[in-house]
Order: sequence, then structure tokens, then C-alpha cells
Amino acid sequence: MGWNSWNKFGCKIDEQAVRNVTDAMVSSGMRDAGYEYVIIDDCWQSGRDADGNIVADPVKFPSGIKALADYIHARGLKFGIYSDAGTKTCGRRPGSLGHEYQDALTYARWGADYLKYDWCFTGTRDSEEAYTTMADALRATGRDIVFSICNWGVNRPTMTDKSMPWEWGEKVGNLWRATEDIYDTWAGRKGTSLGVVNILDLTEPLYAYAGPGHWNDPDMLEIGNGGMTDDEYRSQFSLWATIAAPLLAGNDVAAMDAKTKEILLNREIIAVDQDRLGVAGHRVRDNGDLEVWARPLANGDRAVVLFNRSDKPADITADWIDLGYPAALSLSVRDLWAHKSLGRATGHFSAKVPSHGVVMVRLAL
Ligand code: GLA
Repeated sequence: MGWNSWNKFGCKIDEQAVRNVTDAMVSSGMRDAGYEYVIIDDCWQSGRDADGNIVADPVKFPSGIKALADYIHARGLKFGIYSDAGTKTCGRRPGSLGHEYQDALTYARWGADYLKYDWCFTGTRDSEEAYTTMADALRATGRDIVFSICNWGVNRPTMTDKSMPWEWGEKVGNLWRATEDIYDTWAGRKGTSLGVVNILDLTEPLYAYAGPGHWNDPDMLEIGNGGMTDDEYRSQFSLWATIAAPLLAGNDVAAMDAKTKEILLNREIIAVDQDRLGVAGHRVRDNGDLEVWARPLANGDRAVVLFNRSDKPADITADWIDLGYPAALSLSVRDLWAHKSLGRATGHFSAKVPSHGVVMVRLAL
């Protein structure tokens, strides 16, 4: 869990914005709710020095990256940085190709705890080989650095390599992107970017690849960025937690409204996301636009999402049989958005679900 600069700031990221977000992660309660990594995405770099060392943009990061990492660490958070396996990053800054060990050492000296490693300008490179080289370089630094494989799992026009990151990701890193980039919309494609439900449908079939220390990454949260309704944002949060996705906020945490805060700080849903069993949930019932998703939890409970994709409110029923429970069982039902217990149910649970929305419950014996 954490925050990443890309969705909101893109290339317009600078050290003041990162400090503001860092402060707000603490004051808003996000840090204490579990959001831990503050990650600078692309465009922090300006070039390389005479020795080939990567150099931060002196205008946007005048204090340097080490000072920023120190600032983040001093507030009880961890620091993440970004590079690319090719000659250039996707934002056309210097990539790490041929500088893997040198860059890994630089990040470790700066105090990086996380590296997101992208896949632009990689020519004919083999992705497993390229990511393994950087994983080895990170390990050689002796610093514990989470490795985020941003290899998309699709064939972009620039991608000659056909291998899929979930097939080798567990050996090489801690999370791998399952798709192209998310953008702040419910459904649709814009260039190489996809809406929430498109990303969800591409990631769902991969649930068996996820487990402790190696996760499918359906990309960052768009909650609070303004392109979707609150119901749609609640759906993104609920379903990302159900499929055990990394929860990386992608909004301006320093300027978020009460609704955004309420969604991102839903501790009952964060507990589902972070459940220590580490089994990713998936769709267990598909009645056209009305679906049921479920995730088994460490204490034997199930997290269940009633998900309405249609454009009208609808009644949705979760049948125990679809959840792996005997039909005759009586279970207690807790509503994770209303934060209240709904009593006991036998055989099934039904609720009215808003359009593009969810009802999310936790079932317990
Ligand atoms: C790619 C990644 C994004 C982001 C941008 C930065 O598109 O998939 O998440 O890091 O590059 O340029």
C-alpha cells in the first residue's frame, strides 16, 4: 500500500508536491491505515553525469532525491522510485539499460525501498531476462527493495517480447502489472489506457498467480481524481481489495475531499486487501451485468462483493453454494461500507446495489 505520483501528477511532479503528499499521508491518517510507500514515478530524471550516474532534474528536485527520501523516512514512510529496462523511460528520460547495477546502487544509497521498473524503449529485449538483471542488481545492493514489474502483460506496439509477467514474476519480483495503464474512467479505451472495468476483467483470470510476496497489479487507484462517481470509486476500492491488489492511491492526497478520504480510509476493506492468507478473490457468479465476487480470508471468513455493472440499481444475491459454503449454514453478515452488522443469513444474502456500484460484506460463522 502507498501512493504513486503518476495518475495525478504525470511528468509535472516535483519535490514540493511529494513533500506535501507525504505530510498529508500522515495528517490524513493514511499512513496509520497502512499506506506505506511514497513512490515517485517517471520524469524525476534529467540525464547522466560523466561517470554515467543517473541525475535528478535539478529544477524539479533541487534538494536531490536523497533529501527527499530522508524526508519521507523521517515521517515513518517508505520511499519508492521509478526506472525502465530500456534506453529511455516511457517519459523519455534515461532508462537503466546497461546501467542496472550502477542505478540499483544509487537507489540503495538514496534509501529507496521500492523500484517500479517500466518497459518502454526495450527493443528486442526478453522481458524475463531484463527484469531478472535488475532484480539481481537490487539484491546485490544488500538493501531490501520491493520490485514492481511494470511489464503490462500485453503486446504494445513497442513490445517484441511475448512473455507474460505473471508466468515468471514470482521468481523475479513482488508485483507485476497485468495490463496497460489505467485512466480515470469507468469503461473504455483511450490510446493504450483502459477504464476500471476493462482492467478488472483482464486481471481477474490471473487470480491463481497471486500470493504472499507476489501479486497481480491492476494499476493504481483513481479514487479522488474526479473522472468517476463515488459509487464507481467505491467499486474500484472494493474490487481491488477483493483481488488482493496493491492499494496505491493515485490522487493528490494533500487536497482530497471528505468522500475520497472516507473511501481510501475504509479500514474494514483495507483489512480484506491486506488479509494474511494472501489468496486473491475472483468472480464466482456472473448473471450478465450482475455479479458476485468473493475472497477467502485467513480466519475462515469470506469477503463478498455484489457488483452491479448495469446502468440501473438492481437486486443481487450471493448464494452460499457459489462461495463454497453449505446452503444450510447460518452466517453473520457485516456491511463493510455501512460499517454495521446486518444480522444472520442462511443460504444466501441479497441486497439492492446502485448502478456501477457494490455492496461489500464480510461473512463469518
Ligand atoms: C508507463 C507505465 C505507467 C507510468 C508511465 C510513466 O505507461 O505503465 O504506469 O509509469 O509509463 O511514463
